[in-house]
Amino acid sequence: KEKAAIELVEDPSLPAAVKAKINRLTPLRSKRVRVLGWVHRLRSQKGLIFMVVRDGTGYLQAVLAGKLSQAYDAPTLPTETSVELVGNLQAVPEGKTAPGGHELSVDYWRVIGAAPGGDDAFTTLFNESTKPDILNDLRHLVLRSETASSVLKLRSMLLSSFRQSYAEHNVLEVTPPCLVQTSVEGGATLFKLDYYGQDAYLTQSSQLYLETCLPSLGDVFCVQESFRAEKSLTRRHLSEFTHLEAELAFISFDDLMTHIEAIICDTIDRLLANPISKELISTLNENYKAPSRPFMRLSYVDAIKWLNDHGIQHAKEDAEGNPIKDEDGKEIMVDHVVGDDIAEAAERRMVDEINRPIFLYGFPVEIKSFYMKKAPGSSKGGQVFTESCDLLMPNVGEVVGGSMRISDVDELMAGYKREGIDPSPYYWFTDQRKYGTCEHGGYGLGVERFLAWIANRYTVRECSLYPRWTGRATP
Ligand code: 4AD
Repeated sequence: KEKAAIELVEDPSLPAAVKAKINRLTPLRSKRVRVLGWVHRLRSQKGLIFMVVRDGTGYLQAVLAGKLSQAYDAPTLPTETSVELVGNLQAVPEGKTAPGGHELSVDYWRVIGAAPGGDDAFTTLFNESTKPDILNDLRHLVLRSETASSVLKLRSMLLSSFRQSYAEHNVLEVTPPCLVQTSVEGGATLFKLDYYGQDAYLTQSSQLYLETCLPSLGDVFCVQESFRAEKSLTRRHLSEFTHLEAELAFISFDDLMTHIEAIICDTIDRLLANPISKELISTLNENYKAPSRPFMRLSYVDAIKWLNDHGIQHAKEDAEGNPIKDEDGKEIMVDHVVGDDIAEAAERRMVDEINRPIFLYGFPVEIKSFYMKKAPGSSKGGQVFTESCDLLMPNVGEVVGGSMRISDVDELMAGYKREGIDPSPYYWFTDQRKYGTCEHGGYGLGVERFLAWIANRYTVRECSLYPRWTGRATP
């Protein structure tokens, strides 16, 4: 290797090479260019080496001929080796394909950092029989794969599209804290920590902070990590997820759902209008079609009826929420009744069957949080409903949860009481009702769930850079 490295010297008589990222190469065709990246694939054929190099922005095919194809043990060079390649960039002849439609005829190259061969070789680590646990431990290397990197590129473009949609709707971005002393969605999923001798938590939702911004900044949104100590391992629950939340002042419940639909549809239109994100979506989810508007609106009570009409039952549970089993150890299944929290499985069966986005709205007050506004005249047969909505997407289920918020201070105090919450740490939240209250509402969208829907991923774990779930915080 030493010898080969010395042998290959860049020819100073050649024109100076332009250093460029792979996605910026097209205007440099027929010029001499310098590309730095990682060996993604390698094939040797009749004394030529075809090397596909990756730099994060794209893939480039390079051809090494003559003595270049022998340097650094090129024919057996392990993938993931980092390299510098210099050569002439040429459009591929008609009838041949290569990424970007061009190919690099290399006149000089060198290894920057070798990758291992043998048992540690990338191609040995990853094959069809690699166990999920190993893949999880090797997430930092899995990220280099075409699929994982495509999902993460789409995620980046999704977030910037959302930001553009909010800018167009006159909604301002803010950055609320992660370290908080109040809960939003109940104590059961709080991560507690010691904060200079006081109790503090990792935020479950930035909603309460967004509400305080309305009189100061007008309508606001944030992209913030939320944390939930979820006990269950499901396809769609993470312990840390990216939460896109927004809060809007002086709106009605109908305005809220119309706004959620508009932001989502504008964002999808933007992604499909951009050739790069459009291509990523069609690679990951060949049959993806933008949803038609308006989204279906289905009341909670009608959804319960729909489930029963379609024979979708749920397991009978004891007071602790554990399924009750019969003598043969089988779960006892029962029909849904008004007041039930519709479980993940039933929800997904319904939305998969209906096969279009559904706003499920008007949940009973007992299964919702302390801050939710009651629907006017909603008290039917002793049951009180709220101005709340979940947006369900096929294949994933709930991707958005939102509601109108209690605007009256006494009603809020009653909400704390109902949920057994001490109002004192919430003084700043209560003050919003004291200093010029207003009708307002907002929502939270789980970015990983939304991405799982667009990119057709089986689990939200694929949609997070380094997913955290019950028991896992490595790497
Ligand atoms: O329905 P959730 O719990 O609502 C709230 O937190 C509200 N305070 C939001 C608001 O109104 N500003 O969560 C909202 C969304 C869910 O629809 C889901 O997409 C996502 O956040 N989400 C999770 N995603 C992954 N893993 C989890 N453990 C999640 N919990 C909620």
